[in-house]
Amino acid sequence: MKSICPGVLLLVTTIFFTGCGNTTLQKTDINQPSVYNKEIKTLMSKMTLEEKIGQLNMLRGKMLVTGPIVRSNVAKEIKADRVGAMLSCYTASYTRKLMELAVDSTRLHIPLLFGFDVIHGQRTIFPIPLGESCSWDLNLIEHAARVAADEASAEGIQWTFAPMVDITRDPRWGRVMEGAGEDPWYGSLVAKAMVRGFQGQNLSNDSTILACVKHGVAYGAPIAGRDYNTVDMSMRTLLGVYMPPYHAAVEAGVATAMSAFNDLNGTPCTANSWIWNTMFRKKWGFKGFVVSDYTSINELIPHGVAKNLFDADVLAFNAGVDMDMVGNGYIKNLKKAVEEGLVSEKEIDNSVYRILKAKFELGLFDNPYKYCNEEREKNDTLTPQHLAVAREDARESMVLLKNSNHLLPFSRKIKSIAIIGPLGNDKFDMIGSWSAAGDRKHMPVSLLEGVKNKLGNKVRILYAKGTGFTSQSTKGFAKAVRIAKEADVVLLALGESDNMTGEASSRANIDLPGNQRALADAVIKANKRTAVVLMNGRPLTITHLNKVAPAILEAWFGGTEAGNAIADVIFGDYNPSGKLTMTFPRCVGQIPIFYSHMNTGRPYSPTNHYTTHYEDCPNSPLYPFGYGLSYTKFQFDSLKVDKKVMTTKDTLKVSVVLKNVGNYDGTEVAQLYIRDMVGSVTRPVKELRGFKRVFLKKGTSKKLTFKLTNYDLSFFRKDMTFGSESGRFDVFVGGSSKTRYKTSFILNQ
Ligand code: NOJ
Repeated sequence: MKSICPGVLLLVTTIFFTGCGNTTLQKTDINQPSVYNKEIKTLMSKMTLEEKIGQLNMLRGKMLVTGPIVRSNVAKEIKADRVGAMLSCYTASYTRKLMELAVDSTRLHIPLLFGFDVIHGQRTIFPIPLGESCSWDLNLIEHAARVAADEASAEGIQWTFAPMVDITRDPRWGRVMEGAGEDPWYGSLVAKAMVRGFQGQNLSNDSTILACVKHGVAYGAPIAGRDYNTVDMSMRTLLGVYMPPYHAAVEAGVATAMSAFNDLNGTPCTANSWIWNTMFRKKWGFKGFVVSDYTSINELIPHGVAKNLFDADVLAFNAGVDMDMVGNGYIKNLKKAVEEGLVSEKEIDNSVYRILKAKFELGLFDNPYKYCNEEREKNDTLTPQHLAVAREDARESMVLLKNSNHLLPFSRKIKSIAIIGPLGNDKFDMIGSWSAAGDRKHMPVSLLEGVKNKLGNKVRILYAKGTGFTSQSTKGFAKAVRIAKEADVVLLALGESDNMTGEASSRANIDLPGNQRALADAVIKANKRTAVVLMNGRPLTITHLNKVAPAILEAWFGGTEAGNAIADVIFGDYNPSGKLTMTFPRCVGQIPIFYSHMNTGRPYSPTNHYTTHYEDCPNSPLYPFGYGLSYTKFQFDSLKVDKKVMTTKDTLKVSVVLKNVGNYDGTEVAQLYIRDMVGSVTRPVKELRGFKRVFLKKGTSKKLTFKLTNYDLSFFRKDMTFGSESGRFDVFVGGSSKTRYKTSFILNQ
């Protein structure tokens, strides 16, 4: 096995680990030696090598298809003790049936694990994770994961393949919708919140499930944004930007991890011992188990690092991948690999131990059917409480991108409203990709329904689809223009279909697809009181729309309650407070684009041609990270640090006064960024190190205090040690990453 960067590796990883100490583990501590040690060992002493290898094998069930079809005779394999886990199986009755096969028909009666992609809800669907991250509401994010676990666990699932913590800076990549955006510091907090939400305080609780941090690692940085493509990056960027959220998930006690499809600097992640054995296990103390991605072991052959499946299995297993997802390779080859001395039986035992430990922790040996609960399945899913969380989550996720002349919120006193666009009365697409067992036909509240629910029959509501997602036909334009002219105000619902984001859904152009832009031109020309509602799974290059539309609300794919939540915002029952967690570029040529870039030796100056710039596009994004408007107006004042000079032992307090000087009550996400002015290596122009979500009544103000410690100022220095350096730091506070409101302090070692 080739290491990624042999020269500095040991030094880097040792230091990284010590430098990033600070490990606080929660009560459900899957990272500690199991309390079930004795039971696991006793069981393992009875198992044959074949039975042990069976535990490392995952097959696919008959529900959602999430990859190329691989056929297996599931019942026969389970009965033969050759299956440890199943993918894509849910409903209490289906999982019960399979569980019965494992428990009743096998020699040792070992229960199965059922894993599923519960990414943003199981039946009650929440906004896509990228949208949810724009709420900056960690409690709500944790709560939504809790609800998702509650619903999933009621219908047989004990393991979700979430959170996806891949840092995303290239919106062409379709999977940006699954993560928390571009920032490692914020992404780490979201990762922890989600792990807490899924796993709760105690895995043996009936409604908690195993989380799975994915995709290890750096899957979010494929060259040119094309899914599954190669990742090639410096060790400094890998450790400093892409790895922290995985580490954070391990710190939060995540029970499992998934190896990514991609090649990382020459070694595919599924064959990468440095990731799993060195970083996750040795350095971070991860004691859970690692599952491959869907046939990612088999894909080591086309990657060109294995001649055949046997070699691929040996590579993956020795790299630390415990379970084979759907690839049917471990079950075929690991016994022979042990016999030939290529894989040690002790390592097989370690993998089996980790998997059995998870099953014991979940309580499956006490009651294998505790998660197949028909009664809970009926009563605990899609409850009014769960739907209320989904509505709140969707409202908080929305980002108001533009609002000229306070067009929004619309008054309820209007006489008529036209709802136009491919997402105006859509249910199927608006809940978004990876929507697990969510009903996409009847349950989701469309925008049209949400507006009807809000306005009743006092207001005339007109509707025209106008065009399809990708259609070039202008047939529907005439009706759209006619009703736009007739109505007092227009809601124009544009965006992507759900399958334009998610896995294998990269786009080379990320403008509004089809002729939606032309529809927007026609409708806005017909009625200047048009607010655009965007529903989509990635930042779009909507430079033209931004020019012509008076108001734009980014609603993402908002899930089951999206229509009601959008209506809440549009009519002012909820004042939007979301802030972008991913930069919106002006054009694809700017990608990758993110706020925490380096300054370069020739930072842009309009008066000097020989500075970094494009000839045909500004450097600045259309909307920056952290950006989002409110119906009210906030001001920051009296920024202070409590000491001008701090040492590495001090905690620096940064205070600022936040004022609501507008006409509405509202919530601001106050953000704190630092800049290390001179370092032994170049440092980003800004790095997020704090935020506070603050509700203020209009006309009121509040003093906010942020704290900075030496850890917040630390980074991978020239020699790759993790720590801080003496010198000046600027500290910025404001309502987005564009803020220039700053003060400074000196750090003395
Ligand atoms: C492939 C995806 O990359 C991964 O995220 C998902 O969990 C598995 N398929 C299982 O559906």
